[in-house]
Amino acid sequence: MRVLGIETSCDETGVALYDTSLTGGSGLLADALYSQIAMHADYGGVVPELASRDHTRRLLPLIEQVLNDAKLTRKDIDGIAYTAGPGLVGALMVGASTAHGMARALGVPVLGVHHMEGHLLAPMLEEDAPEFPFVALLVSGGHTQLVEVKSLGNYQLLGESVDDAAGEAFDKAAKMLGLAYPGGPEVARLAEQGNPKRFRFPRPMTDRPGLDFSFSGLKTHTLTAIRQLETSGELNEQARADVARAFEEAVIDTLVIKCRRALDQTGLKRLVVAGGVSANQRLRERLALECEKRQAKAYYPRGRFCTDNGAMIAYVGAQRLAAGEQDSNGVMQATPRWPLDQLAAPSAS
Ligand code: KG4
Ligand code: ZN
Repeated sequence: MRVLGIETSCDETGVALYDTSLTGGSGLLADALYSQIAMHADYGGVVPELASRDHTRRLLPLIEQVLNDAKLTRKDIDGIAYTAGPGLVGALMVGASTAHGMARALGVPVLGVHHMEGHLLAPMLEEDAPEFPFVALLVSGGHTQLVEVKSLGNYQLLGESVDDAAGEAFDKAAKMLGLAYPGGPEVARLAEQGNPKRFRFPRPMTDRPGLDFSFSGLKTHTLTAIRQLETSGELNEQARADVARAFEEAVIDTLVIKCRRALDQTGLKRLVVAGGVSANQRLRERLALECEKRQAKAYYPRGRFCTDNGAMIAYVGAQRLAAGEQDSNGVMQATPRWPLDQLAAPSAS
């Protein structure tokens, strides 16, 4: 079954084609992405109305591009999957209405899928894909969650952020440091020059048991540190790098401590790390060490599939559509808030 995947939940328009008759990564026939980051950068964050309009402009040309790259035509599409949530409702509607319109015209099944399930299973597109069950750390701009993944659709939430997501904290810290949006890669770059010993920021919620996270206090701590340096006239380039480093160390240390706990608690030996923040090199190095210590293994999507993309949506949609699932009564879905643990195993509908 050849499935067209459409991602429009936030600020990237992603499209891909996945073929279920081929396994793992070889099933990905083509993928294309248009990032709106430059358009939103002037505003320091995503402007929802601009995002929706841009998805409308980019989506159809991207679908044509993917079909051309795969040397296929619309008639070769057997099913369509789109991101139904969570995300910005206007942006989601663009993908949902395009998917439904095309599916009706082509007479093929259509299914709205969960964006975070896409991130969760993105490493399945790699040659060295993880087997079920595994622990997943989902770290994006909107989510920080630890999930026990037993099988497709069988997800148990182990812990999550009670306030800001890790990526959101990176973005806010970047803003305080005068860096561009999205802040994660910028903070990581500046932190390279930072002295890890100059400041030590707190590791929130690590001194008590449990797998929940909190990053908003760390944000306040960062702001206070910057203000103090400003007041004392010490806020030079090195000091900014030192703050970036202390912030990054604190976020990473917190994520690593909780991953270690989740592996110990579940007894599992496979850890999947996905979502935008999983692109962070220092996080990867620290998790590799941690996994090595307990004969566990960490799995990641390739770089460009860490952040939002159409390939992960095509993959998840293909698994579910192939199992017979589709949007019931042809009703399109756009669900801005949608807890991951409400998902179930694929069911024919
Ligand atoms: O998964 P994603 O593309 O979009 C959401 O669904 O949120 O994640 C984007 C987030 C942004 O907050 C961005 O700052 C963060 O991922 N990010 C990083 C890095 N690359 C992207 N955070 C830390 N280090 C990075 N290298
Ligand atoms: Zn995402």
